[in-house]
Amino acid sequence: MAAITDVLSIKPFSRREIEAILDLSETFEDFARGKKESNLLASKVLCTLFYEPSTRTRLSFESAILRLGGKLMSVADAMTTSSAWKGESLGDTVRTIENYADVIAIRHPVAGSAEEAAKYASIPILNAGDDANEHPTQALLDLLTIRRERRRIDGLRIAVVGDHKYSRVTKSLSYALANYDVNVILVNPPALALSRDVLEDVKRGRATFEETDDIQKALGKADVVYIFRIQKERLPASEYERVKGAYVIDRAMLEKVGREITVMHPMPRIDELSEDVDSYPGACYFRQSFNGVMVRMALLALVLGKAKI
Ligand code: CP
Repeated sequence: MAAITDVLSIKPFSRREIEAILDLSETFEDFARGKKESNLLASKVLCTLFYEPSTRTRLSFESAILRLGGKLMSVADAMTTSSAWKGESLGDTVRTIENYADVIAIRHPVAGSAEEAAKYASIPILNAGDDANEHPTQALLDLLTIRRERRRIDGLRIAVVGDHKYSRVTKSLSYALANYDVNVILVNPPALALSRDVLEDVKRGRATFEETDDIQKALGKADVVYIFRIQKERLPASEYERVKGAYVIDRAMLEKVGREITVMHPMPRIDELSEDVDSYPGACYFRQSFNGVMVRMALLALVLGKAKI
C-alpha cells in the first residue's frame, strides 16, 4: 500500500487501507490505556493547531503523541492566540510551524483549510475537522467502534440521526461506510438533509443509503444508531430556531425496539441524546471517544514513518 503522508479526507482511502489502519489502531490499545509505555514517537513533535473548540479530537491527538513518547505543542485557540489574530495567512502559519514540529493536526472553521495547509506544509497535515467539510479521523474511529462493538461492519443496518446538512461527521462517515456492505438509514428533519451531491456520490459505493424523518421506524430496523447534535454554530440563527429540538433519542425509544442497539455519538451531546441512555447496555459513546486515541496513534505513526500498512 502507498505510504500515507497526510490525512485530509476519508475519500482517498480504500477499504483495504481503512481495514489496515483499524488493525494497526488495535495494536496500540495497551499504550492508549497507559498500561504499557512506548518511545515509538520519541523525538517527534506534534502541533495541534485548533482554530475551533474541541475536547475529544485535540486531547486524543495529544494523548496519542504523549503516550507514544513524543512531544506536543498545543494551540487550542489559534484564532485569538496565534498570529492569525493579526491577519497572518494559514500558509504562513504552517510554514512557520514546520520549523518547530514534525506533524500538524489542524481544526479550522473554513472548509478546505486542511488541504490549503497541506499545499504549503512540508510536514504531514492531519485534518481534525474543517467546517462542514470533513472529519476523517472521526470516521476512522467510528468504523473502529462499530467493528469493536459488533465484531463486524458488513451486514449491519446503521441509522445515522442528525443534521446531515451541516455536519462534517456525517459526510466523512458516509464516505467511509460506502466501502462496506451496509444499509445506512439517514434520519433527519427535511431541512437538514445530506447534500444531494454527496448522497449521489456515496451511493456509488457498496453501501445502500435510504432517508427518513421517522426515528422510531429507523430504530426498529437498526443494529447501530449514530446520533449527533445540530451544528448550531454553522446554521443561520433563523434556521436553527426552526430545527432545534427536532430529534431526540431517549431510553424509552430504545427499549421499545425490544432488542439491543449499539448507540454511538461523536460528542459533544447537547439535548439530542438523553442521559438516561448512558446506562443502556448498547451505549458506547465514551468507549468511542477512547477509540480515537488508538486511531490517532496509528495515524501519527503512519505519517511519521514509524509504522507501515
Ligand atoms: N467528536 C469531536 O470532534 O469532538 P470534539 O469537537 O470535542 O473534538
